[in-house]
Order: sequence, then structure tokens, then C-alpha cells
Amino acid sequence: MKTLQGRSFTKETDLSAAEFHYLLKLAIDLKKQTKSGSELQRLVGKSVALIFEKTSTRTRAAFEVAMTQQGGSSTVFDSTSAQLGHKESIADTAKVLSRMYDAIMFRGALQETVEELAANSTVPVINGLTDQFHPTQMLADLLTMQESAKKPLADLKFCYLGDARNNMGNSFLITSAILGLTFTIGAPKSLWPDDALIAQANQIAEKTGAKLNLTQSPTDAVKDAEFVHTDVWVSMGEPKSVWKERIDKLLPYQVNKELMNSAAKDAKFMHCLPAFHDEKTEVGLAAAQLAGISGGLEVTDDVFQSNANIAFDQAENRLHTTKAILIATILGE
Ligand code: CP
Ligand code: NVA
Repeated sequence: MKTLQGRSFTKETDLSAAEFHYLLKLAIDLKKQTKSGSELQRLVGKSVALIFEKTSTRTRAAFEVAMTQQGGSSTVFDSTSAQLGHKESIADTAKVLSRMYDAIMFRGALQETVEELAANSTVPVINGLTDQFHPTQMLADLLTMQESAKKPLADLKFCYLGDARNNMGNSFLITSAILGLTFTIGAPKSLWPDDALIAQANQIAEKTGAKLNLTQSPTDAVKDAEFVHTDVWVSMGEPKSVWKERIDKLLPYQVNKELMNSAAKDAKFMHCLPAFHDEKTEVGLAAAQLAGISGGLEVTDDVFQSNANIAFDQAENRLHTTKAILIATILGE
């Protein structure tokens, strides 16, 4: 798609609905090619700079494997080894990397940083997660729902429970508005997306016909939902001290068997991952001890281990959708 060539993807509103659908279609084609061993290498000789101010498993894996499978290369810059922030401005970093790389991915705290990189770069800049948005994750989530439901996205009902004033909640709301989807947030009001973002989403929804709902009732949120999404209750960069308050607020929104039973028949569970579904991680254990609970925080281990969980398909789809974003923005194909 020529319109995507050279364009940055710093937030969902950078793309039109048609461009979202194009990227999904390209990702489906690329996934088929990868699986059948017939993948054409389109990014031979191309390089991508991957800047990680925050940690990552899936995003880094998706970008690095996508470039390798497409015949290109990638370089990871992390906060311990790069000059960005300490010794070199964001603008200068963008100008330097643009001279050597064909695209730049940024993961970090501030949305302003990724937008400043994009404003000063001559190559596409892709947001690999900020506190405000996680746009590349949206494409993987849309693809996973479409594949699982075997029907158009516009005919689906889905919801998101938990901390909704963070990247995942914000991104779902605005993406659903752009694509005209039926989407509900279930969260305490203090953790809803900020008023300006809700207003922007509602304004877009008026034109696209999206049906957006926000409720404080977890059971109302999951009612008729074919896909129940959640995310960690405390995100990267937040202090440990917020765990107690967050658990108290969000425990009623925990995705457990009972809540899944209130969703549509055969509803699927989704999570961008990593998830605290047991006490086998340092942070998961500490938080569970603090809460005096076991067997999972935002999702219980029985739901996570059940057939309803499609979070690993979702994780795999990060690869195929990332590849589509890279090919479309670098080559305009
Ligand atoms: N879902 C996601 O972005 O995972 P990582 O933090 O591991 O990249
Ligand atoms: N909300 C989470 C998403 C991780 C992919 C975080 O920002 O830590």
C-alpha cells in the first residue's frame, strides 16, 4: 500500500481503517507464506534500529525475527548502551539513525519521545509500546480475534477488564473507534482512560458506527463478549508501592472461571502477556503475597491453562503483524 511508505506508526490514529485492514490482510498472507516455507524476502539489505528504554520479550522477538526472516537485520539499543537520553537528544538520535537505518522502533515511557523521534526522522518510526499506547499489539490482537472467530471484526463483541488508563486500555478504545467495533471496558472509574481520549474515541465512533461502552460492572462488561482481554494490573515503570491499592481496586475484575462463564458461550481469553497467572515469577509471588491470594492476579491459572486461552496465538501473531508493518512502511508494499 503506497500510502504507508515512509509513514510512522506512533499511535493508532496515525492509520485509517483501510490501512489497518490492509496491514491485517498483508499479515495473513505473510503468515501463510512463513508457514508454508514460501516466504519471499522483501527486506534484503534493510536494517531496523530497535530502541528499548523498557524491557521486552515479544516485541523484541517479533521485530528481530521479522527482519531475519525477511533477509534484513536489526540492532538493539538499550538504555545501558545507547547515548539516547543521557548524552544525546531525541531529535539528534532520530537524525543519526535515519542516516543508517530504514526504520526505527521505540519502546519506552513517554508518548512524546516516540512522536519527537518521528518528527525528526526521515524513516518510519514505530511505537513498540509507550505508557499511553501499544499500537503494534493492536494489530496482533485484531488478527487473533479475526482468525479465532472466523468472522469479520465488525461482527465481534469483545471487552477489556482491568487497568484501562494505560497503554492497552487506551489502545483498544481508540482502535475500536477507528475500526467501528463493538467494545466494552470494565474497570473502576478511577482507572478509565482519560476524559480527552474517551471524547476523541466517541467522536471517531460517531462517524464509524463503533459501539463503545465503559462500565464499572465486570459482569456487564463480559456479557455477550466473545473475547475477554485483560492486562497486568501494574505496568512497567510504575512503582511497587502501587500494587496494594491496585489489587484492592481490581480484584473484582479478575478474569476467573466465574467471570468467563458470564461471557458469551465458548468465549476466548486474551492477554498481551506477560501475565501473572501463578506465583512462578518474582513479581507475581510478591504481589500475590501482598494480596493474600494465590492462583493468579489479573487472570486465574485455571482460565490461563484452559482451552479458552488464545494468548499464545496472540503472541505468535506479533511476528506476522510486525512483519506486515515493516514491509508496508519501509517498502510501501
Ligand atoms: N506484549 C508485549 O509487548 O510483550 P513484551 O513486553 O514482552 O514485548
Ligand atoms: N501494560 C503493560 C503491557 C505490557 C506489554 C505494561 O506497560 O507493562
